[in-house]
Amino acid sequence: MIIEPRMRGFICLTAHPVGCEQNVINQINYVKSKGKIDGPKRVLVIGASTGFGLASRITSAFGSDAATIGIFFEKPSAPGKLATPGWYNTAAFEKQAQEAGLYAKSINGDAFSNEVKEKTLALIKEDLGQIDLVVYSLASPVRTDPTTGITHRSVLKPIGAPFKNKTVDFHSGKVTEISIDPCTEEDIQNTIKVMGGEDWEMWIDGLKAANLLAPNALTIAYSYIGPELTEPVYRKGTIGRAKDHLESTAFTIADKLSDIGGNAYVSVNKALVTQASSAIPVIPLYISLLYKVMKAEGIHEGCIEQIQRLYSERLYTGGNVPVDEKGRIRIDDWEMRADVQAKVAALWEEATTENLPSIGDLEGYSNDFYNLFGFKVGGVDYTADTNEVVEIPGLQ
Ligand code: NAI
Ligand code: NA
Repeated sequence: MIIEPRMRGFICLTAHPVGCEQNVINQINYVKSKGKIDGPKRVLVIGASTGFGLASRITSAFGSDAATIGIFFEKPSAPGKLATPGWYNTAAFEKQAQEAGLYAKSINGDAFSNEVKEKTLALIKEDLGQIDLVVYSLASPVRTDPTTGITHRSVLKPIGAPFKNKTVDFHSGKVTEISIDPCTEEDIQNTIKVMGGEDWEMWIDGLKAANLLAPNALTIAYSYIGPELTEPVYRKGTIGRAKDHLESTAFTIADKLSDIGGNAYVSVNKALVTQASSAIPVIPLYISLLYKVMKAEGIHEGCIEQIQRLYSERLYTGGNVPVDEKGRIRIDDWEMRADVQAKVAALWEEATTENLPSIGDLEGYSNDFYNLFGFKVGGVDYTADTNEVVEIPGLQ
C-alpha cells in the first residue's frame, strides 16, 4: 500500500515501515561511526522500541557488540493494518542485528505485568545466563499494579496553583496561552505509581532473586529536569514528583546491588521530540526554541547522540561515573548551559505565532515528529508500494 501520515491531535495514526527502517539504519551508522565502546555484552532494555530506549539498544548492540533483549508494548502489523512505529523499528533493528551476527530477541507486552517479567526472566536464563546492563526506559500514561490490580493513570499537571503560559500547536504553528488547573493529591500518587521507580525496582528484584544479574551489573533509568520556564508543569508538577521518586529509587536499587558490585543510575537526558514528550503542554514550544539555539551553537543532539555519549563519556569510560550533587548522571549538560538557557528564555518572551517559524525551529520539531513515524525520512520513496506486514525475527 501507499502509506501517508494521518494526524489526529498530537498523534500520528500511521507509520511507514521503510522510513522507520531507515531511521534505525541511520542510528546504527551513527553509533558505528563513533567507534567501539568497552561496554556491556548482555543487555536488557525495557522500553526498547522507540526514543531513548531504542537508542540504548542500538548503542549496546552496535557500539559494544552486545546481545540484547528488548521489551516494549506495540501494535503488530497485519494484512491491511499498519503496526505502530516501535514495531517497525524493532523489526529493522533485529534484522540488522542478525546480519551483524548479534543476538537480539524481543517480548511485546505490558512490562508492568508479572507475566511479561516472568517470560523475560525465563528467556534470559535460557539464552544469556546473566545480564550486564538493564536499561529502564518506559514512558506510559497508565500502569496496572500487578499486586493490587488497580489501574493508575498519570497526569501532567501543576501542583498547588494553576499554570498559565505560552504553548504551541506544532502542527498549525499557533502560539496561544494555556492555563492548566492544579492536580489533586490523588493525581500525584497516581503519577508516581506510573512513572516513578516502583516498577523499575520490581524488575531488578526479580532479576536479582533469580541470579540473573552478572557481577558488577548496572541498571539505568532516564529522567528530565529542564528549565525554570517549564518547572510548574514538569519538574515541580506531577511528573516531576514521579521523577523524584525514580531518582530516589536509584539509591535503593544501588544498595540492593552492592553485594554483587553492581550499581544503579539515573541519567538526566536532554529534551527531545518523542511520542512521550509531544504530549506534554508547553514542552513543544520550549523544544522548538531550544533546537534553534543548540543547532546554531553546533551542540544539537538526538536520542542516539545522547545515548552514545552517555555510554562512551559517562558509563563506560573505565573510570568513575561522573554524577551531580544528587548522584545523577548529567547528559543534559549542553541543554542546561547557562548561555543556552539565557537565549531560550529571551526568545520565549518574544515568541508569537508570527515570529516562531524564524526565531524557533518549528520546522525541525515538525520534521522530528514526522520522523518518529517513519515519515519525511531522507532517501525513502514514499510513492512506492510498501508492504505493511513486517515480522520481528526474534519475537518471543
Ligand atoms: P518513548 O515514548 O519514545 O518510548 C517509550 C517506550 O516504552 C516504548 O518502547 C514503548 O513501547 C514502551 N512502553 C510504554 N508502555 C509500555 C508498557 N506498558 N509495557 C512495555 N513497554 C511499554 O519515550 P521516551 O521519550 O524515549 O522516554 C523514555 C524515558 O526517557 C522516560 O522515562 C522519559 O521520561 C525519559 N526522558 C524523556 C525525555 C524527552 O524529552 N523525550 C527527556 C529526558 C528523559
Ligand atoms: Na524509550
